[in-house]
Amino acid sequence: MTATLKFAVFGQPIAHSLSPRIHAMFAAQFGIALDYRAIVAGHDDFARVLDAFAREGGVGANVTLPLKQDAAALCSNVSARARRCGSVNTLIRDGASWRGDSTDGSGFLRDLAGHAFEPHGHRCLLLGAGGAARAVAFALADADVAHLAIANRTHERARALAAAIGVKAQAIGWSDLAAADPFDLVVHATAAGHGAAKFNAPTPIVGTQTLCYDLSYGRAAAPFLRWARAAGALRTADGLGMLIEQAADAFAIWHGRRPDTGPIHAALRHELAASLSGA
Ligand code: ATR
Repeated sequence: MTATLKFAVFGQPIAHSLSPRIHAMFAAQFGIALDYRAIVAGHDDFARVLDAFAREGGVGANVTLPLKQDAAALCSNVSARARRCGSVNTLIRDGASWRGDSTDGSGFLRDLAGHAFEPHGHRCLLLGAGGAARAVAFALADADVAHLAIANRTHERARALAAAIGVKAQAIGWSDLAAADPFDLVVHATAAGHGAAKFNAPTPIVGTQTLCYDLSYGRAAAPFLRWARAAGALRTADGLGMLIEQAADAFAIWHGRRPDTGPIHAALRHELAASLSGA
């Protein structure tokens, strides 16, 4: 009999994480037996809790807010793509230590493809310059966008991220967005949606064909997506697809096989719609 493989997702808050369900559905496609749990941990206790998980036989883990940088620091080896983002969302047990990778950028690009958006040659705007924005910025640069503008509440952070990306990227002041032409893609990557009911930005950045993409999903994505539709965007997307695709990339790293994400998108989209309508 094959032993049940132990995995977990660490973060805080974590109780409502969809990752255990997503990985259970992936595993079912291949008949793999796995135990994937959500484990609460913060900055102070993550190292200890992760160590206990390894001692119990944990072979892989995902890491979410606020631990992606902590995870990078706990790894003995980090992939090139995770190193440049300064964050790790996937841990792989390697002997007596952890190897770290980041599938956020690749998951984002796969989901863009699912929305029929090919970044090559396009003008893109990134709102935010934190950890999530960083993964998206490098992914878009790799996908050969024509131009990446970055606007952030703290301008200096946008400038630092643009400098790390290179010539294609440029920091732009939030108020200067009023004079910008519509972008092909606008990605909302700030944490503002978790607290505020309203999102506000100059509307000229959006045209009817702009794809407006929020990295969050559910209620957190609603303010930006509502604003985008009011600004005239006909194409909007939330980050549920990215969550599923980054999970599929992590699954492929652990198990050597990439699951079919189509049925998972359909099932979770249906559930999310039901929960938002209060059904
Ligand atoms: P994450 O890993 O989710 O990106 P983070 O690294 O803390 O988290 O970054 C949060 C991002 O949301 C930053 O771009 C932050 O802007 P600052 O760099 O100015 O802090 C942005 N952010 C958070 N709250 C915001 C708010 N109320 N309005 C606008 N931007 C906000």
